[in-house]
Amino acid sequence: MANFKNRDIISIKDFSKSELLYMLDLANKIENRDCTDLLKGKTLANLFFEPSTRTRMSFESAMKQVGGNVIGFNETESTSFAKGESLCDAVKIIEGYCDVIVVRHFWEGSARLAAESATVPVINAGDGANQHPTQTFLDLYTIKKTKATLDGLSIGFLGDLKYGRTVHSLAHAFSYFNTKMYFISPPNLKMPRDYLNSLKEKNIFVYEDDNLEDISKEIDVIYCTRIQKERFADPVEYEKVKGFCKLTKTLLERLGVKKDLKVLHPLPRVDEMDSSLDDTSYGVYFQQARNGIPVRKALLASVLGSIS
Ligand code: CP
Repeated sequence: MANFKNRDIISIKDFSKSELLYMLDLANKIENRDCTDLLKGKTLANLFFEPSTRTRMSFESAMKQVGGNVIGFNETESTSFAKGESLCDAVKIIEGYCDVIVVRHFWEGSARLAAESATVPVINAGDGANQHPTQTFLDLYTIKKTKATLDGLSIGFLGDLKYGRTVHSLAHAFSYFNTKMYFISPPNLKMPRDYLNSLKEKNIFVYEDDNLEDISKEIDVIYCTRIQKERFADPVEYEKVKGFCKLTKTLLERLGVKKDLKVLHPLPRVDEMDSSLDDTSYGVYFQQARNGIPVRKALLASVLGSIS
């Protein structure tokens, strides 16, 4: 049986296939039972150095729904980071006030650094363009629920694949599931070579293109992502690729996609996917965001050793 007690959740690469499946199963059990007092008396510290709606609020809601408390911040101006305190020092202090730390930070590797300083479990809520492992757990949960399987799917990753931490985490997770992966992006936002090489070493089918049309009939899932303006050092480079893709109901119908295609998006969206998809059988992104609750309850309860 998988043992998550006291473990940090930093990168999806730290977990085996059986551990991923174990967590999805646990989330499903939690979703279907009363867990009101599961984490009674426990405290979560939410340390958010970057903007967030879904991740921060779903962690907070999940913790409160299972009887726990939440402290933290979502901007640093009112904290001692504004006076120059280091992340490592802050973590050593904050762990004295809580049982588990969730951190989102703009530096790649920041969550690992925080975990090395902490004695309580640390959960990575997104570290720069690197990883977003808890998003991956809820993405897998959503795909398993809506496609009835994780095995043997063809997945089209669309948009900003260079800086897209959700894509990096999810592509690694799907390397366990005999997946065909289609990476569709502007040429300057391609999937990082180290991720592609790692997939190829595992004999995963990998295809790169800048046009969804070429592969639209093949895929079972589109994982659409926003072009992340905030990650570009040069605004001119962003201007070149903004509006790269606009998914609409009409476009999917014209492309002749599979009837049971599902479209996921970690959100927020800007203009890459319009609201005409919201009420179709394709669009499952709102359900995906809601799945953050059972999945994050399961993750919190597991690392705190309150469930197995
Ligand atoms: N999916 C996601 O990470 O959304 P937020 O940035 O709103 O947390």
